[in-house]
Amino acid sequence: MKILVLLLALLTVSECDRKITGRRGLNITLPCNYDIKTNGPTEVCWGRGHLPYRGCSNQLLATDGHKVIEKTSVSSRYQLQGRLDEGDVSLTIMNATEEDDGVYGCKVQIKGLFNDEKHHVQLTVKRGEEMIKESLTF
Ligand SMILES: *[C@@H]1O[C@H](CO)[C@@H](O)[C@H](O)[C@H]1NC(C)=O
Ligand SMILES: *[C@@H]1O[C@H](CO)[C@@H](O)[C@H](O)[C@H]1NC(C)=O
Repeated sequence: MKILVLLLALLTVSECDRKITGRRGLNITLPCNYDIKTNGPTEVCWGRGHLPYRGCSNQLLATDGHKVIEKTSVSSRYQLQGRLDEGDVSLTIMNATEEDDGVYGCKVQIKGLFNDEKHHVQLTVKRGEEMIKESLTF
């Protein structure tokens, strides 16, 4: 039993979840970073929905750690605008709409078995008026 608990702890240690709220019509950046000094430039993919065991589901784009290597035709709104050479693989969604609501997964494919880092971001896109209403109720 102890071993099982330890195993579960190890498996979940590299996962983290964040929530981001953005405004419709703006560019929204979903944060994702890895330690490039330790790991070197590393393959990363971004997908919609929770990350599966391998790769990314509904992949939006991927990088080899130096540049974006895979883009789908719908993906001109998805960009990596951070410093890739510093391990900043944050995804920017341009001109966000409510249809961008949902979970996004960033998988850092660190070499070796079970070394992948998974980051999930829950995005909520709101109209400007909704944001103002919310900040007034604070
Ligand atoms: C979104 O980013 C693009 C490219 O960087 C820029 O041209 C555009 O003005 C930005 N839009 C907003 C609303 O900031
Ligand atoms: C943003 O998206 C809306 C709806 O999809 C579109 O009407 C508008 O032209 C877009 N704005 C920019 C700057 O791309």
